[in-house]
Amino acid sequence: MKPQIRPMTQKDKPAVLRILRDTPEFKPTEVVVAEEVIDSYLGDPVGSGYHIIVAGIGRRLVGYLAYGPTPLTEGTWDLYWAAVAREEQGHGIGRALFSHAEGEIKKVKGRLAVIETSSKPEYARTRRFHRRIGYSLACRVKDFYAPGDDKLIFLKRFPEKDPDRE
Ligand SMILES: CC(C)(COP(=O)(O)OP(=O)(O)OC[C@H]1O[C@@H](n2cnc3c(N)ncnc32)[C@H](O)[C@@H]1OP(=O)(O)O)[C@@H](O)C(=O)NCCC(=O)NCCS
Repeated sequence: MKPQIRPMTQKDKPAVLRILRDTPEFKPTEVVVAEEVIDSYLGDPVGSGYHIIVAGIGRRLVGYLAYGPTPLTEGTWDLYWAAVAREEQGHGIGRALFSHAEGEIKKVKGRLAVIETSSKPEYARTRRFHRRIGYSLACRVKDFYAPGDDKLIFLKRFPEKDPDRE
């Protein structure tokens, strides 16, 4: 079933937090920061600098994505956090959320989408997902998060290149 994508509202918060807390990739301290981003957005959806969208199937909330324009840049956007309910992963919900955000970014002439992630083995699935939806690894900052835990920066540029013209 195709998910419905829409902006997050206050009443979605408990379901989004449940998904975040049930995501083994996220440490409790990371969930705290994710909640701060959510509260900032819900407190001021227009002025916070964040956009948060959720995916629903029927009346069930099954995923969310937080993104926003990167401060002090022209047309660069950060995709900050995403999570899909564990039992719903692998059914196209993550792709639908990212594709919706990219559509909104393109509408305002965004030209670069950035995802920062960790090199830890726990994120191997996530890295495969990013590659699968068209992001390329642009840079690695060794030992950024901790010794042995590098920061990886994945990018997608808009308009996307037409493979027939390369
Ligand atoms: C990463 C995440 C958001 C992806 O969402 P999802 O709904 O499971 O992904 P989708 O089903 O939309 O997958 C999109 C594509 O990526 C591929 N993909 C997804 N997971 C994959 C995996 N583990 N290995 C290889 N490919 C994978 C799918 O096959 C699909 O490709 P296709 O459309 O060509 O078949 C989700 O798995 C998740 O919440 N993970 C835990 C939290 C996390 O890592 N968040 C992101 C960092 S903030």
